Amino acid sequence: KEVDKELRTGYHFQPPKHWINDPNGPMYYKGLYHLFYQYNPKGAVWGNIIWAHSVSTDLIDWVALEPAIYPSKPFDVKGCWSGSATVLPSGMPVIMYTGIDPRERQVQNVAYPANLSDPFLRQWIKPTYNPIINPDQGINASAFRDPTTAWYGPDGHWRLIVGSKENMRGIAILYRSRDFKIWVKAHHSLHAGDTGMWECPDFYPVAVAGGSRPHRSGVDTRELHNRAVAEEVKYVLKVSLDLTRYEYYTVGTYDHGKDRYTPDPLFPDNDYGLRYDYGDFYASKSFFDPAKKRRVLWGWANESDTVPDDRQKGWAGIQAIPRKIFLSRSGRQLIQWPVEEIKSLRGNHVNVSNKAVKSGNYFKVTGFKSVQSDVEAAFAIKNLDKAEKFDPAWRTDAQGLCKKLNSHVKGGVGPFGLWLLASDDLKERTAVFFRVFKTNDTNYVVLMCNDPTRSSYESKIYRPTFAGFVNIDIAKTKKIALRTLIDHSVVESFGAGGKTCILTRVYPRKAIGDDAQLFVFNNGESEIKVTNLHAWEMKTPTMNQPE
Ligand code: FRU
Repeated sequence: KEVDKELRTGYHFQPPKHWINDPNGPMYYKGLYHLFYQYNPKGAVWGNIIWAHSVSTDLIDWVALEPAIYPSKPFDVKGCWSGSATVLPSGMPVIMYTGIDPRERQVQNVAYPANLSDPFLRQWIKPTYNPIINPDQGINASAFRDPTTAWYGPDGHWRLIVGSKENMRGIAILYRSRDFKIWVKAHHSLHAGDTGMWECPDFYPVAVAGGSRPHRSGVDTRELHNRAVAEEVKYVLKVSLDLTRYEYYTVGTYDHGKDRYTPDPLFPDNDYGLRYDYGDFYASKSFFDPAKKRRVLWGWANESDTVPDDRQKGWAGIQAIPRKIFLSRSGRQLIQWPVEEIKSLRGNHVNVSNKAVKSGNYFKVTGFKSVQSDVEAAFAIKNLDKAEKFDPAWRTDAQGLCKKLNSHVKGGVGPFGLWLLASDDLKERTAVFFRVFKTNDTNYVVLMCNDPTRSSYESKIYRPTFAGFVNIDIAKTKKIALRTLIDHSVVESFGAGGKTCILTRVYPRKAIGDDAQLFVFNNGESEIKVTNLHAWEMKTPTMNQPE
């Protein structure tokens, strides 16, 4: 019981109790960030779903308001599922969400604020003309949900997509509307793929490098009708796959006239695409933040503890730290980085520099408490000669490779990285590390891996290894950076400046509170050097106290 308390997160978004899942309708309105989320007001398992509501001035401290949307009408009596917000050009925010009707059909509804002068947007009104989009015209009524933020076309009509499936084909069904009230289904979908149900689609523009705005800055989905803007952006389509419980995205072009999205050739047809996060991260949703001209991504991280333990703890689910998301300079992938505001939580700090770690060695980072911390490390690799040979078959299975060559398996260059939430005797520990492989004499592959197989004495917990490749030219840089946000039962890592991200949930029994240690290890033949490691204790913000 006492241990359970130690596992609750400190600075990740979490209500005081009960179950949460998808982030819903994130937006910025009159100086406040709004986050709604799927919530069970009655327990720590999924059910009785409503939209809980929180607001913040800085994405760090959160105040819990009363629930915004809950079953009250025939068109949502059996549940208020995921959806999005669109701020209309008049400044009026609109929510679109999926309601479950008395026949268990999934329908799309709108809700408007009752009082626009209330920056808290406490009360939402559901017009009687709901539902505004029905699962007719051959649509599968049990697979039709999660409307996106709408965008404006050059013809002055709004568009949005709804996630669905046709047999085993995932589809993004496209609708158009002039007034946000009458929506007409387009003849073709925005995009489709042979992957099973598409949940929580997200579709948005990203700036390309070399345009009139910095490529890191966000683009408002509503700006797209502007041709000049349209010429210096690419588009991202993200879907959450019900089958695998992972998310995939592609980057591509969008033909406004034909209303079709085409992934870049980089993303072959039979390919799912890239992952935002190679760990526990699902049903994410982004929004454009006009205050800081950036796009911010929210994503849900489920527990991987057992259901009886979730019930005992009385809470389940968190939101990942909001991430700024933008297209890389090369245009080949997205980059994600914790919003800058979280630096304001940094407290007591330690620094290690120019420390060599020989083959098989490790050291403890002392002088600070790591259980709730932010760690930034840079590793230099002297020499790549010892890199293990890469089997091309591994290309499509980073996770399998990480399971096979986990952190206890000696390598050539790596595994090296962090052992965290570790007990002093190292019997409990979670490894976040890199491993470098050689494809031929001049080309290398970098694997980033999260290995929680020894993270807890409790053996019933689900402890999958998670991994992704890191798209860097290691022969040139000879260096790789890692940032890891540690928060009791969350390990959220950003490799190479946010090119590869992995979030995991772990539940140590001993490595808790002040007994959670941080180590740097090198289990490869080649020596590595920690050129710099900065670690900060993180303060605890106000997290969803009622006003
Ligand atoms: C994704 C999801 C959505 C649905 C919601 C219900 O996690 O299944 O597709 O709208 O959760 O809570």
